[in-house]
Amino acid sequence: MATKKFELLDVASGKKTDLPVRSGTIGPDVVDIGALNKDHGVFTFDPGFMATASTESKITYIDGDAGVLMYRGYPIEQLAAHSSFVEVAYLLLNGELPDHNQLAEFNVNIQRHTMINESLLRMFNGFHYNAHPMAQVSAIVASMSAFYHDSMDIYNPRHREIFAHRIIAKLPTIAAAAYKHSLGQPFIYPRNDLGYCANLLHMFYAVPCEPYHIDPLAAQALDLLLILHADHEQNASTSTVRLAGSTGANPYAAISAGVSALWGPAHGGANEAVLEMLEEIGTVDNIPKFLAQVKDKTSNVKLMGFGHRVYKNFDPRAKIIREMCHKVLAKMGRADNPLLELAQRLEEIALNDEYFVSRKLYPNVDYYSGIIYSALGIPRSLFTVMFAIARTAGWVSHWQEMIGDPGMKIGRPRQLYTGPGKREYVDISKRG
Ligand code: ACO
Repeated sequence: MATKKFELLDVASGKKTDLPVRSGTIGPDVVDIGALNKDHGVFTFDPGFMATASTESKITYIDGDAGVLMYRGYPIEQLAAHSSFVEVAYLLLNGELPDHNQLAEFNVNIQRHTMINESLLRMFNGFHYNAHPMAQVSAIVASMSAFYHDSMDIYNPRHREIFAHRIIAKLPTIAAAAYKHSLGQPFIYPRNDLGYCANLLHMFYAVPCEPYHIDPLAAQALDLLLILHADHEQNASTSTVRLAGSTGANPYAAISAGVSALWGPAHGGANEAVLEMLEEIGTVDNIPKFLAQVKDKTSNVKLMGFGHRVYKNFDPRAKIIREMCHKVLAKMGRADNPLLELAQRLEEIALNDEYFVSRKLYPNVDYYSGIIYSALGIPRSLFTVMFAIARTAGWVSHWQEMIGDPGMKIGRPRQLYTGPGKREYVDISKRG
């Protein structure tokens, strides 16, 4: 088979270069521009990485035009219908679905790592009660690097495996500790006889003075949300984890960087922002006024939960979440939830509005997730933390893939410098 090439012509010098074109399993080809600087002395310019594949990866595939998402080749719809978050985490990390024994062993490995060091627990007391949980989670995750010196050799595959189990297991415990701290309630220790999401609910809602009943539908809904948020190829937070990790920084520091990147409202913070937006709109009558603001480019107002860098069609995760949303609210006796009604009407109007249609703006994964989280009693400030718990599986898988690659290089982009040219230092007495 002929190797594909991309011919580049430097019009000024008339010099032609054949750039190699690489093909993936599926998806668009990429032009390998590695030789461009060496041969032509130029860099490429792509703010926001609109047209740049930053890495090669075998983990997740998205076709944004067709609304397709696959983890390790498995469509998200099939994983959402048949799998569990723990199984999906195994799949992301290892590349294949586990058999019975492998899944049982993985479950045990996760369950055995759910507790956090008591010193870490005491660190929460250093935060004011109203500290945002994302601030607490990123700080505590970074601090974990001070506790596990015996297993932090990033070039040791067994150490990397222990890290993966540890971070996936401990994120719910850290999230719950942040939540309990904000309430002034005692921390509830994990229960290793429970499943991943049931344990999470237990740590969030149980109190020492009375029994707590775990609603299986709540655990199921949470599990589904975690599956849908588990990975999304080279998004901002995953790219942050890769970039931080590419320096050889310890993995806790890299994941903490990912938590921070996720926090922004253009990324994982959107779920929190959607509910704030719906409450601000208030009633269906106010939708036209709100949408007029969104379309006014001077307003800086966005329809939160709409639009995506990659999806120019329905986000497949949004479709699944929308369905789950109805189920959860019906079960919780909140089928007539006014925010859900408002969200549905807003979606309907936006999807028929020329502004959104022409820009291919559709609901993304977080348009409905906040409504489910609310129905499950999860406070708004914890929505992005829930996202972080899920995405940890993806972050670790990408970090593992990167570190395990013998050709790994430090991530170091270049720039187009537009500042002043060389000039001489002027003594302060002669300025102005
Ligand atoms: N509301 C109104 N207008 C929008 C929205 C929106 N939510 N999203 C994009 N647009 C407009 C832009 O203003 C731009 O219009 P223009 O062509 O007239 O200038 C056009 O659509 C293209 O948008 P970009 O900003 O170029 O798209 P980009 O890929 O850079 O941004 C992003 C994607 C950040 C997700 C954006 O759609 C957005 O801010 N959405 C709202 C926040 C959100 O829901 N984020 C969650 C994303 S999913 C996730 O991370 C889990």
